[in-house]
Amino acid sequence: MITAESGIEKVLISEEMIQSRVRQLAVRITEDYKNQTIVMIGVLTGAVMFLSDLSRAISLPMEIDFIACSSYGHRTTTSGEVRMIKDLSHPVEGRHVLLVEDIIDSGLTMRYLEDTLRNRHCASLRTIALLDKPSGRKTIIQADYVGFTIENHFVVGYGLDYAGLYRNLPYIGVLKP
Ligand code: IMP
Ligand code: MG
Repeated sequence: MITAESGIEKVLISEEMIQSRVRQLAVRITEDYKNQTIVMIGVLTGAVMFLSDLSRAISLPMEIDFIACSSYGHRTTTSGEVRMIKDLSHPVEGRHVLLVEDIIDSGLTMRYLEDTLRNRHCASLRTIALLDKPSGRKTIIQADYVGFTIENHFVVGYGLDYAGLYRNLPYIGVLKP
């Protein structure tokens, strides 16, 4: 039988590990932004699972918006170009923005989004990534909050895809070669 898990070689980060880390990060964010209203911006489509769990664990008044950039398409290495495909629905001027990414690899997407949002004069901008692959960097960038730092393998699940598939897995896994 073919299932959502066909093609997965191994589980790298289990559902339990993800959920417990998400709760820890939410506690920190709730403390760091005490008495402030934030705007969580999810980077489509990879960050949707992370944003939906994280946002529900944060006890702050918040708005949620989404932005989309060009992605890898069907390849597993970066093209080096970033392009906006879908802009935010609301202006962020004067707002406390928390940008939510699934993973930082080369850092080019995060760099582009940080520059774009800063140009819109938010009151503050912080970034959070569920996963960080520091060995893939092509620009110097560091998220303010990171869930897990991982080695340089291509991972899927919990929002992350390969050719559009595997986003619905509740864990982070490594594909079969
Ligand atoms: P960067 O611009 O190279 O940092 O890549 C960021 C984007 O590439 C992420 O938002 C993901 O959509 C995608 N990406 C990078 N590494 C992986 C991976 O291991 N699996 C799935 N998507 C990835
Ligand atoms: Mg992405």
